[in-house]
Amino acid sequence: MSDILDVSHQREAIAKAAAYLSGILEPHFKKTAKFEPPRTLIICGSGLGGISTKLSIDNPPPITIPYQDIPGFKKSTVPGHSGTLMFGSMNGSPVVLMNGRLHGYEGNTLFETTFPIRVLNHMGHVHNLIVTNAAGGINAKYQACDLMCIYDHLNIPGLAGQHPLRGPNLDEVGPRFLALSDAYDLELRKLLFKKWKELKIQRPLHEGTYTFVSGPTFETRAESKMIRMLGGDAVGMSTVPEVIVARHCGWRVLALSLITNTCVVDSPASALDESPVPLEKGKATHAEVLENGKIASNDVQNLIAAVMEEL
Ligand code: HPA
Repeated sequence: MSDILDVSHQREAIAKAAAYLSGILEPHFKKTAKFEPPRTLIICGSGLGGISTKLSIDNPPPITIPYQDIPGFKKSTVPGHSGTLMFGSMNGSPVVLMNGRLHGYEGNTLFETTFPIRVLNHMGHVHNLIVTNAAGGINAKYQACDLMCIYDHLNIPGLAGQHPLRGPNLDEVGPRFLALSDAYDLELRKLLFKKWKELKIQRPLHEGTYTFVSGPTFETRAESKMIRMLGGDAVGMSTVPEVIVARHCGWRVLALSLITNTCVVDSPASALDESPVPLEKGKATHAEVLENGKIASNDVQNLIAAVMEEL
């Protein structure tokens, strides 16, 4: 797919994928009353595919569809992202799960990255998005393995013209000029904090601003410092395109970051310094992101499952 599709091609691609999914799901809806159309989409972030273990295994058993079988869906190419759509039930609430997300840095256009949301919206049942991600901590108070409920975002590529709503507008879905001052649903955020308290989760749950960068490089020190100065609390390479498209569809959004590493904001070691701090100190790695993801992922899974109880 090219960067910008005209409206008729967008509509055609969306309808084709929706028809494919309906063809698989409809017989299940008919066969068992227990299998209801999902009201909520959960997107699993890096290392957070374990959320799928919270799907009910037999009431009804989940239906798993690989992205590569769905027309127009791109494949997930990143370690820690499996690439399947799973329809089932979590804590009694019907749900669809994206086990593995699509990123712009993999070479996907923002239309392709957010295509699953468009397709599910076309199918007409989903109206909640729960999105999770791994993020770097920018706020000095944040530590690796803390959690952050997103209450606002900085869309750095979007401010510079790489925006998921760029191009012809799907008027039947949402407005041309979408307000994002209310992007992160207050009731859902309150629910998340309530569940965090009820579950007595020990790791901190902050509330803050997520900064979207395109990646795939981790930030330089100067970039991390800039993000902190701009008011960002965490930084990552995902989430914001999906949130924007979900809001365009009129869905409610809850977004949760797992802080997998802390970003380095101090100036680099100087060549003029007699005993410089080693330059590699604090350097981010994908292995660290996945490792810390593993440590905190149980809490994330339990939190999401508890929220699902009420959706
Ligand atoms: N920067 C950008 N994306 C990330 C980071 C980071 O430090 N950690 C996890 N995802």
